Amino acid sequence: MIDLPNANKEFIKYVKEFDVSNSRIKGKQRHSIRVENISKIIAEDLKLNQEEIKLAMLIGLLHDIGRFEQEKQYHTFNDLESFDHGDYGADLLKRLIRNYIDTDEYDNVIFESVRNHNKLRIDENLNEQENFFAKLVRDADKLDIMDETINLFYKETEDLVNKSDISDYTMNFVRNHQSVATPKDVEISYLDGVVRTIAFVFDLNYRKSFEILKEQNYINRIIDRFNYKNKHAKEYIEEVRKIANLFVDEKLKN
Ligand SMILES: [Fe+2]
Repeated sequence: MIDLPNANKEFIKYVKEFDVSNSRIKGKQRHSIRVENISKIIAEDLKLNQEEIKLAMLIGLLHDIGRFEQEKQYHTFNDLESFDHGDYGADLLKRLIRNYIDTDEYDNVIFESVRNHNKLRIDENLNEQENFFAKLVRDADKLDIMDETINLFYKETEDLVNKSDISDYTMNFVRNHQSVATPKDVEISYLDGVVRTIAFVFDLNYRKSFEILKEQNYINRIIDRFNYKNKHAKEYIEEVRKIANLFVDEKLKN
């Protein structure tokens, strides 16, 4: 039996070891709990049994466990400037997992879901169960990041988005219905970062995720919350809106 109240208590205890007066630490704690809840909604829609629903929630709760050390050691959430927080989180959990769940029967599912949650693509070598739960946490995580883009955006960053442009590098992924790969040598703008979040729609897995996206009107709300000063950016963002909305409507047709 998975004891979720205990897991949540342990998680809060773990986060308390960090500087909780730092809004970035607090923010990741809240994000983790929201992803736990979104995972529940998707898992219930997929008609999983009670134990599997709890497993999906536990993975949601723990998916970003690597973020706290990342902020503490590097003061960044940029994996390229620090470490891969999915890999780090999975390794960390290899030591801490018994605090969160008594049985070891789901250890590999948990480790692989956490390790794969932030990758551009899921590792092809996962077994069916690992792949299923990895896809689920990826959806829940992406939906909450879209929500955060609307509700939790720093004023200074907002101004930088308003002034910036969209690159052809980013636009090509959108036109090909693909999640945007982090470029190694191309400089990307703040607005490219926002478009990258919108392009998460091309990498959602489950029907419920598309339904939530549509209900919450995430695509249009993200686009409409900025005030584009750049004429070229304005044209490109409308193209992004059209492509992304069409893609979602097509997914929901079947
Ligand atoms: Fe993450």
